[in-house]
Amino acid sequence: MSDIDITVVEESNAREVRRVRTTVPGLQQMKSTGRKIVVLTAYDFSSARLIERAGIDVALVGDTLGLMMLGYDTTVPVSLDEMLHHVRAVRRGLKKTMLLADMPFGTYQVDPKEAVQNAVKLMQAGAQAVKIEGGAYLTETVERMTNAGIPVMSHLGLTPQSYHLLGGHKSQGTDPAAAERIYKDALALQEAGAFAILLEAIPATLAEDISGQLHIPTIGIGAGPGCDGEVQVWHDILGIPPGKELRHTKRFAEIGDTIENALRAYALEVREGSFPTKENSL
Ligand code: KIV
Repeated sequence: MSDIDITVVEESNAREVRRVRTTVPGLQQMKSTGRKIVVLTAYDFSSARLIERAGIDVALVGDTLGLMMLGYDTTVPVSLDEMLHHVRAVRRGLKKTMLLADMPFGTYQVDPKEAVQNAVKLMQAGAQAVKIEGGAYLTETVERMTNAGIPVMSHLGLTPQSYHLLGGHKSQGTDPAAAERIYKDALALQEAGAFAILLEAIPATLAEDISGQLHIPTIGIGAGPGCDGEVQVWHDILGIPPGKELRHTKRFAEIGDTIENALRAYALEVREGSFPTKENSL
């Protein structure tokens, strides 16, 4: 395997990550060689630096920042200005990890030309690719963006910006007609120039079939192990806030508990006078 992708060498407990910059052709090569693509959301500078250090392939400035960082109930209220603010922060924390940015609700659905203009703003803020939710009706938009030099990832299955139409965050593609529609959408978007397809909350067998048929990579979430890569939300895999583990995710740490305990310890020590001490003065 050429060194275009990440090389992970495990030595006893030590983990050495030797890597080069993630690019669109590099992701394509990862699909061809069967190396899984790792994607994680990032919303700020500090988490972007950790993502970079950990050797994650792609950092997604997802519009889930509306829920995770801004306290909205859905991704629908997220604005382009809010996305731009977070894209700039994440950009400053990354070097070799690719920055993928979500286009927020209302910025690409209506007019393909306006969609390109909005995508340009995200690219100029530091994104290296954009992601849009929706099927074959967006082929002209994908084509225009790709022709303009903007790599586009399409997002199919559960598309959270359609929360109000879908009636919630529900699994998709569970009956044969719906599965067929997702499959055809994926082919049409690939044909239009999408460099990858994100498949959210669809049956594992459907995700595996689509991944086998497409020549571009698929990235799954809640779509089983058959995709070419996986995306997860920062807060979900780290246990922030503490609480129930959701089915589509896995907790790799309980950082929410750790932070809360640290905050309680800090408050206690300040209140009882054991912190700060003289040694903590400059
Ligand atoms: O905005 C987001 O975080 C997403 C998820 C599917 C990861 O699109």
